[in-house]
Amino acid sequence: KQTEKRFPEGFLWGGATAANQLEGGFGEGNKGLNIADVLPGGKERLQVLKQPGFNWEIDKEKYHYPNHLGIDFYHRYKEDIALFAEMGFKAYRMSIAWSRIFPNGDELEPNEEGLAFYDRVFDELAKYDIEPVVTLSHYEMPLNLVKNYGGWRNRNVVTFFERYVEAVFNRYKDKVKYWLTFNEINSGLMMPVMGLGFAIQKEEDRYQPTFQAFHHQFVASALAVKAAHRIIPGSQVGCMLIYAPVYAYDSNPENVMYAHEEGRFFNNFCGDVQIRGKYPAFVNRYFKEHHIEIEMEDGDLELIKEGTVDFISLSYYMSRTERKEKTAEEVRQGNMVGGVKNPFLKASDWGWEIDPIGLRITLNELYDRYEVPLFIVENGLGAYDKIEEDGSIHDDYRIEYLREHIKAVGEAIEDGVEVMGYTSWGCIDLVSASTGEMSKRYGFIYVDLDDEGNGTLERKRKKSFYWYKNVITTNGEVL
Ligand code: BG6
Repeated sequence: KQTEKRFPEGFLWGGATAANQLEGGFGEGNKGLNIADVLPGGKERLQVLKQPGFNWEIDKEKYHYPNHLGIDFYHRYKEDIALFAEMGFKAYRMSIAWSRIFPNGDELEPNEEGLAFYDRVFDELAKYDIEPVVTLSHYEMPLNLVKNYGGWRNRNVVTFFERYVEAVFNRYKDKVKYWLTFNEINSGLMMPVMGLGFAIQKEEDRYQPTFQAFHHQFVASALAVKAAHRIIPGSQVGCMLIYAPVYAYDSNPENVMYAHEEGRFFNNFCGDVQIRGKYPAFVNRYFKEHHIEIEMEDGDLELIKEGTVDFISLSYYMSRTERKEKTAEEVRQGNMVGGVKNPFLKASDWGWEIDPIGLRITLNELYDRYEVPLFIVENGLGAYDKIEEDGSIHDDYRIEYLREHIKAVGEAIEDGVEVMGYTSWGCIDLVSASTGEMSKRYGFIYVDLDDEGNGTLERKRKKSFYWYKNVITTNGEVL
């Protein structure tokens, strides 16, 4: 289908992944354990952490740990990158596993074998002129920092993170220009374990530690931005937000205000600090009313002001609809960001509501508020795929989802929003972050592996592979 929307020259088309969800290479090259290594597969994955007495140990008798194998990218990266190149990728968003570089997180010197692995990956990308876009921390904090330091609640972690980012900036300064600090930083508001590195067992104990941990991440992010600019001239560092525009269920001003407040908190709290360089007024009011006192060191606020990011990267999967008073039946089951069921939207098999217009709204809201370039580094449809008898995979539902979302990006560009690129999530099937399933597939490339870890790991091109290749070749003109 033809569109008249023009994407700018040099638009960074590509795909996105995270180390813990695809590398495997468990313990290889001296890699230390990280959070994802102790998360079992299955829908109860994140619930397990809330069980009293959960001790972050691996119990193979009881659980399967899908991240240990991932999709074995650690050994197959050449083959996978060749497939990305075949689709014409201009950019590949990936992450570095912190625990490959500093296996326990608190060492003084980096692990050479870990550094050498990413050298090989970046060199392979360079062969095909694929620009790496690298997330420094994507739900994969070294486990030692979780168990023995309490995750990001502990100020020492800022120093460890600084040491880690300086090591990778120095090592890859000629290979990587685009960096992202914390993946979906604001997701810590919903599930502190993945991003902030600690489990909460009682709801009422959530506030103080959560915001203290956020403060440490803001300081760490600012230090990372400053270090990147110092060590790698011309580098650009982005924050990374999970964004879900929040709609009021109806025109009742109570609901409109509620949706506004929820949206502003969830979507803008972290961005305001990382982009504008200061805590916003609405958050200061919230701290006061909830008796939250953030411990800060002298100079923290100046540092946050100096270390603002160059661009915003974001994930977009769904919108959220809110009303102030809601019954349990009205709550949308599965929509990761919560809210009530939106009667105008269909949902994926996992209950994530599909809303391409919400992406156009997202891009406009962000650009209106911050006026910095935006980079969509995650978007996509998790779906069950079926292999036909002849081995082909007709994932028209995925093509449809991506087409409508890319059209929405085109509309936003026409609206005047500056968009740097689009890397769809899970360009090759990988382990789901929220459920640990393999069967929740996002890829253009199928990987023969099931939820229990059985399969040949063979890669196959889906119908969407050829479709996306054409999208890139025509720079988004033919969708
Ligand atoms: C984002 C994460 O929340 O969504 C990814 O940054 C994740 O790590 C993606 O995989 C899709 O979520 P899921 O749970 O379907 O894997």
